[in-house]
Amino acid sequence: MPAAGSGTRLDSDRPKAFVELAGMTLLEHCVLGTLASGAATEIVVAVPEALVRPAQDLLAALLASADLGPGAGTAVRVVAGGADRIASVDRALAAADSPDLVLVHDAARCLTPPAVFTRVVGALRAGAPAVVPVLPMTDTVKRATGTGPTGGEALVSDLDRAALRRVQTPQGFDAAVLREAHAHQRSDPHPAATDDAQLVERLGHPVEAVAGDERALKITYPIDLRIARIHLEESPA
Ligand code: CTP
Ligand code: MG
Repeated sequence: MPAAGSGTRLDSDRPKAFVELAGMTLLEHCVLGTLASGAATEIVVAVPEALVRPAQDLLAALLASADLGPGAGTAVRVVAGGADRIASVDRALAAADSPDLVLVHDAARCLTPPAVFTRVVGALRAGAPAVVPVLPMTDTVKRATGTGPTGGEALVSDLDRAALRRVQTPQGFDAAVLREAHAHQRSDPHPAATDDAQLVERLGHPVEAVAGDERALKITYPIDLRIARIHLEESPA
């Protein structure tokens, strides 16, 4: 679970995973949601280095006090993350046991419903090596190609919106495929990579979609916290 970002765009006084939403940090919401899905046998969280100990204390208290449902007994560990998301996932992966399947789930998508986990795991169990939850695009999309006549971006409309998808997490992988993809990224970095599916795709493995969910939104800007509060009011965890 990558949770080591600083949350620059959220503009808060602490790293994003430690920001509160309805009385609990995003990290706690995310760990509880993951446990409630019953999809994890072990959770490894990557947080900013200075917050490893506080995160351990926070999560130990949470596990001791909350009703964990199907997640009871799941081990939760905390490691120091890296300079970018891929590096944080890499560190969490290095600290994880050796299961057959791995889910990579952003702490920032802390309200992801259990059904999304279930769909991802279902496709993995059916044999897909890489699975991502997606939603359709709603905005018209254009591609920036350079500079326009008065200095703004020049745009072309050569992307078919109907063929584009917004990608969420948890992304699920055959563990060996994901480990190979991260090893390749370490030896031959793709600097613009923003998710794990891209790394796996680079090795030639197919990436398959399942339905995502609007409640799995990534908390990015302050407005997203307000939207998340509305989701919580409408369907409390
Ligand atoms: N992440 C991480 N390690 C990093 C950077 C990001 O584990 N070095 C995690 C974040 O904690 C988040 C997820 O990757 O759960 C998606 O990243 P993003 O939404 O961009 O979060 P931040 O990087 O914290 O936000 P910002 O880009 O606004 O600073
Ligand atoms: Mg970021």
